Amino acid sequence: MLCAPPPTPSPSARPRRLSPPPLRCSPAGASPPSPSAGSIRRQVLSPEGRAKLDARPDRDFYSYPRLVKHVDDGFLAALTDLYSERLRPGWDVLDLMSSWVSHLPRELRFRRVVGHGLNAQELAKNPRLDYFFVKDLNKEQQLELESSSFDAVLCTVSVQYLQSPEKVFAEIFRVLKPGGVCIVSFSNRMFYEKAVGAWREGTAYSRVQLVTQYFQCVEGFTQPEVVRKLPSDAAGGKAASSPLAAVMRLFGVASSDPFYAVISYRNFKPT
Ligand SMILES: C[S@@+](CC[C@H](N)C(=O)[O-])C[C@H]1O[C@@H](n2cnc3c(N)ncnc32)[C@H](O)[C@@H]1O
Repeated sequence: MLCAPPPTPSPSARPRRLSPPPLRCSPAGASPPSPSAGSIRRQVLSPEGRAKLDARPDRDFYSYPRLVKHVDDGFLAALTDLYSERLRPGWDVLDLMSSWVSHLPRELRFRRVVGHGLNAQELAKNPRLDYFFVKDLNKEQQLELESSSFDAVLCTVSVQYLQSPEKVFAEIFRVLKPGGVCIVSFSNRMFYEKAVGAWREGTAYSRVQLVTQYFQCVEGFTQPEVVRKLPSDAAGGKAASSPLAAVMRLFGVASSDPFYAVISYRNFKPT
């Protein structure tokens, strides 16, 4: 169900309505999408791989708002940089498994940002959402959203909680416009008892592979791209070994959350 949008911003704060985004061009010679595009080719997870240690309904776990940041500022800066690189003004954006904070670049104005999550109070506080809806994706995966209606679908530090990722990624494919992008980002933090077995038992490498397979199991997603920024990269190579970085690490203020993103497009990557 689509809930009421958060309180309407004052006219001066309201995002500027931009003209429709330019048409996307598929690469010359690209083949037309296969008729089976969007179908699930195979299951990625075994029954154990889908299991959570805490089997209680996720809605109970998220019943009270957690107004915290789930990853450190270095991670969030890397994510916002990636969004600046890949997202365009005027787009329709879906933020799946969202909360009270937005990682979208402040200067980018979108046509519409729709948020989804499990806690309405968190979502109502998110300043970038025009609309939001609450839905437990482990109970039902179908999104009550029009097909081919989003330019971008984002999922931040949450993919590890999906027990039917194959169906959720097929839905992401359905709601994306051809050429639309999906960016799934994650680190090594999690609510351990709520993460699926395949994630809990995995390594950084295997988690990247897992998300890659979530895209690959749906016919029609482009070959996923992986972006990794490990803390030493984020601190800028040499800078990471500087005395200042050592002191910052000592006081726990240095960036330490590794950044991973897996990116794929529906049908083709626009030129
Ligand atoms: C670690 S928080 C991340 C929130 C947000 N993406 C961010 O970057 O701050 C995990 C989010 O996953 C969502 N989530 C967890 N289990 C879910 C489920 N079964 N169905 C839908 N959303 C779920 C919750 O709403 C929660 O906000």
